Amino acid sequence: MARMARRVEPFGTTIFTEINVLAQKYNAVNLGQGRPDFDGPAEIIQAAVKALESGKSNQYPPGIGAPSFRQAIANHASKFYDMEVDPQNGVIVTSGATIAIFESLLGLVDPGDEVIVIEPYFDSYIPNIIMADAKPVFVPLHPPSWTFDPDELRVAFNEKTRVLILNTPQNPTGRVFTMEELTLIAELCQEYDVTVISDEVYEHLVFDNARHIPIATLPGMFERTVTASSLGKTFSVTGWKIGWVYGPPHLIAGVGSAHQYSTFATFHPAQEAAAFALGMDGSYYEDFQAMYTAKRDLLMQGLSEAGLKPHLPEGTYFIMADFSDVFDGTDLEFVNHMISEIGVGCIPPSPFYTPEHAHLAGKQVRFAFCKSDDLLREAGERMLKLKSRI
Ligand SMILES: Cc1ncc(COP(=O)(O)O)c(C=O)c1O
Repeated sequence: MARMARRVEPFGTTIFTEINVLAQKYNAVNLGQGRPDFDGPAEIIQAAVKALESGKSNQYPPGIGAPSFRQAIANHASKFYDMEVDPQNGVIVTSGATIAIFESLLGLVDPGDEVIVIEPYFDSYIPNIIMADAKPVFVPLHPPSWTFDPDELRVAFNEKTRVLILNTPQNPTGRVFTMEELTLIAELCQEYDVTVISDEVYEHLVFDNARHIPIATLPGMFERTVTASSLGKTFSVTGWKIGWVYGPPHLIAGVGSAHQYSTFATFHPAQEAAAFALGMDGSYYEDFQAMYTAKRDLLMQGLSEAGLKPHLPEGTYFIMADFSDVFDGTDLEFVNHMISEIGVGCIPPSPFYTPEHAHLAGKQVRFAFCKSDDLLREAGERMLKLKSRI
């Protein structure tokens, strides 16, 4: 009988879909998926409308991306990170960062190669590695500080290692990797001739004294790094699915080869609006960080008042919180309880670990604070019921 391919059989449904369905069933305040419940800036939406109406961008753009947008991506890398990116041969525009990472794996990894992944990981990485016929090798972050053990990182490298996927600021832990941590990763990548695929979709979501350091800016790393990012988080337009990847032309050529026979080209009008967005002045980013700092503090307060032990994130719009004082059970059981009894959706991190490491997820769950202040307050009020159980 006709059947699906063995390649995809084990993938199942993503935890985000499962939680969304459950949250809807119980009418829960959903702090699960990282999907803002507010709109992106009006100027950017207007720029998209203008691009649609201009009649100049309703046909295929170049497969690698509209020239204006590629130039804006290069200008952004220069302005924020003092990095020199070639807009002609060093950038590919993609339909979001997810496919940018998949196309990077397809274009830079051979069958049988090993790919190092830091846990807990973003959920598409492992199916992407498997679809590229490569083998994931896991390095866990340990709670409560969510740091890796340098020895565990070191033993993950060997002569078969081809790529390390890095994500900083990191989803779901909210970590922003320090110069010291990045230096160790960079040294090992150079020693073992490993390429880095750096997922930096939260590059502008950093708090307090944390500083986002693209690993490509470390000595000797630009030549072995492709950096993926997207518009979704920075401009609150996750539905646009506009992303990009940049790096040295010899690596981008591999990504581009995979791209031209998968996506080929991405929605043109949004690329023109994206060029406008990336060109907005520095005050946009300052206001954006201030807005999210206030939301982070609001949710931190709600979680603490409910008797949870939240870990203050250095970046992203996620908070990991320890529930051991208010619930006895696994993260999956706690999430079920939260949705069905308390009326608040959150995400269990154990699906983002390999089964052997899942116990490291411990008594933690992830909450997203890319939500209206009213919704965050409502969640806080509902969660007070947790305390009454103690
Ligand atoms: C770490 C990480 N990478 C990639 C993505 C997906 O980005 P995009 O929507 O641009 O594909 C997300 C979205 O949640 C993410 O958290």
